[in-house]
Amino acid sequence: MPEVRSEDSVVRYYCTAGNGMEPFLVDELKRKLSAQDVYQIPGKVLFSSSATIHRVCDLKAAERLFLLLKQDSPLFCSFLAKTASVLQSRLLGDRCQWISAVRTWSRLQGELAASRNAVTASTTQRNREKGRGCEKQSGEGENRVMGMGLSRLLGWKADLKNPKLEINVYLNDDYCLLGIPLTRLLLPLANRSYLKTAGLRSTVAWAMASLAHIEPGSCVVDPMCGVGTILIEAAKEHMSACFLGVDIDDGQLQKADENVVFAELQSRVHLLKASSTALPLPSASVDAVVCDLPFGRKFSTRTNMAENLPVILSEMERVLRVGGTLVVLLSPQLSCLLKKLLSQTNCGPKCNEEAEPQTGIKSCLVSSSEQHNLQITSSSSQEALTFSSLRHQATLRVSLGVIDGLIHKYIKTLD
Ligand SMILES: C[S@@+](CC[C@H](N)C(=O)[O-])C[C@H]1O[C@@H](n2cnc3c(N)ncnc32)[C@H](O)[C@@H]1O
Repeated sequence: MPEVRSEDSVVRYYCTAGNGMEPFLVDELKRKLSAQDVYQIPGKVLFSSSATIHRVCDLKAAERLFLLLKQDSPLFCSFLAKTASVLQSRLLGDRCQWISAVRTWSRLQGELAASRNAVTASTTQRNREKGRGCEKQSGEGENRVMGMGLSRLLGWKADLKNPKLEINVYLNDDYCLLGIPLTRLLLPLANRSYLKTAGLRSTVAWAMASLAHIEPGSCVVDPMCGVGTILIEAAKEHMSACFLGVDIDDGQLQKADENVVFAELQSRVHLLKASSTALPLPSASVDAVVCDLPFGRKFSTRTNMAENLPVILSEMERVLRVGGTLVVLLSPQLSCLLKKLLSQTNCGPKCNEEAEPQTGIKSCLVSSSEQHNLQITSSSSQEALTFSSLRHQATLRVSLGVIDGLIHKYIKTLD
């Protein structure tokens, strides 16, 4: 339960989130913090909460956390960027607002420092968070204008080399935001202190686990677990479930083992060397299968994924109990192949179909030439396999950095 505090301590924040992660963050904010006035824009979620700063810093779907200073209209923004004096008077607002915001920031930093003994009351990070899409972080000129304005308003001295306080200004055609970071650039919320070796982005791994309907007593399998990121994210969130990671590669299993020990999850996360094409598990024995299939350069593998997808999918379906959940992360190409495989045996979604309306997230869009290639690649291996018991629930696009991935969710039904 979120801690209840006085009305005075309600704080307005915003978090940055990876592309496609915003709905997961909105859901997490409402569920864990009972956050109010939650408002989503591309790459960010604004919210109010009276939860302790430690609970806010425990969010798993977010990248960085900011104290919101000001939010203004897009019309104003486009005009504002051109006029230094308007920028100073309108965006900076009044002195009292700044003093109160800096007091709140200091209090929150103090609370973090007191318990973690790690966060200092000042930050030395430069204002250089990566921009997304058409959004633009304030540039050199705007930084100087803001610095001069603040110096006039509050008597502060702008020091871009070694600042005591970082102010983030986002200006674009859709919104403008002013905030003070509560987490450091090199130590974002997305950085997990309990992981030794990083694999899949932790926020995405957490999102996949959150789709898997894990309950107390559930048995969850990742048949291509790599260093175990998805299972560790799931195990940290679900204390009464148990997890099995399978991988074919000794090196990956070694790192997964170190991660599990480092995260102190040995009693609930177990590892096994096997192939996902022949899982050594009884049929209908697990409640959820979560899997990040290899694609892209980072995880080049001996297994030809397009060729082996039908048999891997068939194994996942076999080990799942009826009512169990399958959550897989795929490249856009593999995503299309999977949809094609499923549409052959049931009326699953076809390529280019829109995603679930309730998620509001775009589905995969793959060009017809890619579809044609996939047809050729996969034609040899899928004759005998059917996947009629897998019912499609959602397809969600998330950013993995340079490329996007598609998360597919299915429920196993009776036939
Ligand atoms: C994309 S990586 C998984 C990354 C993982 N989610 C993580 O965070 O580390 C895919 C994994 O599949 C494994 N793999 C490839 N072919 C396999 C097979 N036939 N059976 C089991 N694992 C396999 C690779 O060794 C690799 O660790």
